[in-house]
Amino acid sequence: MSIHDQRGGFERMGGDMCPHGNFKGSPCAACQQESQKKQPALQTIEQLMSKSKFKRLNPESATTQIEIEGKKFQIESIEDRESPALAEVQKLLIDTFGEEEVDPEEILRSAVAGETAWGTTDETKYKVYLIRNEQGEAVTAFAGDHLDLHGADNRPTGETMFMVAYAVTAQNARQGGLAREAYISAVMDAALEAQQNGKQLKFAAGECTFTSEKFWNSVGWKRAYAQSGDKKTYEELRYIQPALDFDEKTGEPAEDAGAVAEHFMVDSFGAETPDKNQIMQTIDAFYRWCNKWPRAAFESDEAFQKQNAYVAQIEEEFKNQLESSGQLIFLDAANREKARAAGVNITEHSAADQGHAGKEDF
Ligand SMILES: CC(C)(COP(=O)(O)OP(=O)(O)OC[C@H]1O[C@@H](n2cnc3c(N)ncnc32)[C@H](O)[C@@H]1OP(=O)(O)O)[C@@H](O)C(=O)NCCC(=O)NCCS
Ligand SMILES: [Zn+2]
Repeated sequence: MSIHDQRGGFERMGGDMCPHGNFKGSPCAACQQESQKKQPALQTIEQLMSKSKFKRLNPESATTQIEIEGKKFQIESIEDRESPALAEVQKLLIDTFGEEEVDPEEILRSAVAGETAWGTTDETKYKVYLIRNEQGEAVTAFAGDHLDLHGADNRPTGETMFMVAYAVTAQNARQGGLAREAYISAVMDAALEAQQNGKQLKFAAGECTFTSEKFWNSVGWKRAYAQSGDKKTYEELRYIQPALDFDEKTGEPAEDAGAVAEHFMVDSFGAETPDKNQIMQTIDAFYRWCNKWPRAAFESDEAFQKQNAYVAQIEEEFKNQLESSGQLIFLDAANREKARAAGVNITEHSAADQGHAGKEDF
């Protein structure tokens, strides 16, 4: 990608400069100060930091040294597609999820540069964070993307969300608070980016396995439930992750690929919880970024249209489910149990509680 193209990318987001004349992406004290008021995510970040096990050497920067009992770790943000650190991220992913579950390293590298696997430009660049221990070994990888929410007119609303793609900590470093620190960094960066683009970061959300619920709860995420029947009956929203691999000739899901039930989890940073419309905008943002493939991925217009229609159909079904259900509530595991103990009927999206979670998972 040429420098010209990169600048073009900035231009699409509304000019190269922030309102104070600093280049976007470079620190601007005024933006940072204003964002304290305009970005509720920063209050969440402050709360998370105040309860952190670590001392962050530079609490205003996503890339900082963090320290616990004299042991130092370093959080890095990887923005260069050629960075050797991406090979270390890839290794952590493969060690955790297995080779067959992980995209080739070249796809990770393209995504960091803001390109799809087919060489077309993505709206946003993949955000990848890595934490190293004192020996310089990669112990935590964290990745996601800062996405625009779109309105009914198909245009960005000015509100954004951070979608987490994955969090991984090496087996021998788990439950030390590292993934939580990486999350803090990712949200801090997204809030500042939103501020510099004149937008507001509203939500962090993701498609979550049942094994990692407690981790997501610990950073404030909750599952979504809709009233179904009387006031004491709720059912979790049945979120579906569309197939992730397709036949480029036909546009049909590839033979070994299929839709998978997952838990939708979200945090609204202490502000009002998302309403039904915002839930749909969030899922639309997931699908735009992860699931709807570009024309360049297919051999024909028909295959392209078929693939996009497949994803749109899943989105439509989710929308119908939402529209036909009652009021939404958001619960973490602890509050769900409390509600149950108080006589509330809660049905889980139990189709998502399957798969190969090892005994070390939770
Ligand atoms: C999920 C995962 C990334 C968490 O990484 P981590 O570095 O261990 O997480 P942290 O130590 O920052 O966890 C923060 C909090 O989450 C909760 N938590 C984390 N692991 C937990 C576990 N095994 N059981 C219960 N709670 C847990 C705890 O409250 C913890 O804080 P505390 O130890 O101070 O109480 C890690 O377990 C992992 O790599 N799992 C396999 C991959 C995966 O499932 N990723 C998520 C989906 S992509
Ligand atoms: Zn500024």
